[in-house]
Amino acid sequence: MNTTYLPGALPPRSRPIVIYDSGVGGLTVARHLVQLRPSEDLLYVADNGWFPYGDKRDMALRSRIYGVLDAVIESADPRAIVIACNTASTALIATLSDLATDVPVFTVTPPIEQTAKAVAGGTVVLLATPSTVRRSMVRRLVNEHSAVSRFELVGAMDLVHLAERKLAGHQVTAEEVVEALDQVIPSSRRDEVDGVILGCTHFPWLLDELRTAFPRALVWSDPARETAEQVLEQIPVRVRPTREDVARVLYLTSDHNREELRPVFARQGFWAGPSLPFSANEQLLSLQTG
Ligand code: DGL
Repeated sequence: MNTTYLPGALPPRSRPIVIYDSGVGGLTVARHLVQLRPSEDLLYVADNGWFPYGDKRDMALRSRIYGVLDAVIESADPRAIVIACNTASTALIATLSDLATDVPVFTVTPPIEQTAKAVAGGTVVLLATPSTVRRSMVRRLVNEHSAVSRFELVGAMDLVHLAERKLAGHQVTAEEVVEALDQVIPSSRRDEVDGVILGCTHFPWLLDELRTAFPRALVWSDPARETAEQVLEQIPVRVRPTREDVARVLYLTSDHNREELRPVFARQGFWAGPSLPFSANEQLLSLQTG
């Protein structure tokens, strides 16, 4: 007999793969997981209570993310966690062992080496959040590969908001994307760019508009698909006892914009479950960087 579970509820003993981001960015990784292995239960955790991550201080962000992940592990018993956020991944990567769990954790970081090689001798823009472009691991990798290609690091916070707006169904024009970029990299320099690293999981949602802003770029590096492949290589296919409905569930960390986000995620196949049983340490918000 087939069992139909309520949308928004994880079936008992589901052990989902968790996809974690501040907002809609992780959906660019989730869509590859769905495409590559549609049978897997997915739990999307959007830390909307702390969105956006890209302007937060490292220490505050780290303790926030560890707090949310502990609550996710406790309440959902996942098989794997994919930190589908470059800002979070680059903040945590050196301290991931602090997360007291056996659950495999996968990260998404900008593919600096691969892109340097792909445009060999040309100019690469690493387009990411201001936090990501400041991280020492990112700076180190860029230095290591700057003999192969010229790098320009561009922190573009406004693009994160534009991506959220676009996914929410509002019109976002190429002009708006160009205007946002004008604040951080002039068009004369954009015209020289051969390759762009989409170093924030929100940015693939703006790919068409970004192509207008970087007219010469032929290489567009998005680590999303490769990440999904790596995850699935290490997570065995689940043998399902019955042909259950596959669960795609969304947990938010705050109810403040739940009604706006719910349809956005529903359009991507994720049904909103209860908010994560997690008491946010809101005073940390005051630690935002200026
Ligand atoms: N999606 C996140 C990333 O890949 C950043 C979005 C945010 O600033 O919250 O970096």
